[in-house]
Amino acid sequence: MNFENIFKTAFIKFPRFQTARLKLLPLELKYTGDIFEMFSNPEVVKFYDLPVMKEMNQAENFLKNHIQNYKNKKEIRWGLILRQTQMLVGTCGIAPEGFELTKDCTNIGLGFDLNREYWRKGLMKEAITRIMAFCFKHSRIEKMHLENLRENINCIRLAESLFFKILKTRENVEIMPKIYADVDYYEISRSTYVKHMS
Ligand SMILES: CC(C)(COP(=O)(O)OP(=O)(O)OC[C@H]1O[C@@H](n2cnc3c(N)ncnc32)[C@H](O)[C@@H]1OP(=O)(O)O)[C@@H](O)C(=O)NCCC(=O)NCCS
Repeated sequence: MNFENIFKTAFIKFPRFQTARLKLLPLELKYTGDIFEMFSNPEVVKFYDLPVMKEMNQAENFLKNHIQNYKNKKEIRWGLILRQTQMLVGTCGIAPEGFELTKDCTNIGLGFDLNREYWRKGLMKEAITRIMAFCFKHSRIEKMHLENLRENINCIRLAESLFFKILKTRENVEIMPKIYADVDYYEISRSTYVKHMS
């Protein structure tokens, strides 16, 4: 089963959502400035596989890659738009790729990032909760996972608050050329989701 088949219509019409404070919309090049602002802060990329952005074209390339991945039906990545200001304050996406435990697309990975100014306000939890509902209620996803560097406390707390549990750990993984770290693989199953969050 491939990723496209899991989501019946998501690659025909982009799934747009609204939460209390956010709109979850397709990424567009008009958000280049907001993406640059987010990723030019070293704190945001400290535990992420991206360099600190120094030039605007890095932000443009980030957006182009994700837009192309959606066109190729390899990923759905949402821009998190603050309803009050229309600013993009983060992104969040799902994809079957990069997960080594299984190639079965009923198990998908989650990736996310938030502008430093907006941390600890529950915004990412709000966005991921909506995406989890989409995955578990409207698709055939059985499990969702995320990979986290062990020192990324904010991500650990966020994962725990969403009932993700550590499935596997790996030490000394080369996360970027010549940079090594311990990585934990978190997972939530459909049954755990139904029990705690639906
Ligand atoms: C990871 C990241 C998105 C978390 O953002 P955030 O703003 O802390 O997320 P939220 O405010 O939605 O927090 C969700 C939950 O985690 C809790 N939490 C987050 N950081 C915490 C911390 N340092 N200590 C205790 N609790 C924390 C919040 O209280 C909330 O739980 P609750 O609603 O049950 O109280 C943000 O730190 C980030 O963008 N980091 C850089 C990119 C990154 O590392 N991405 C992840 C790669 S796996």
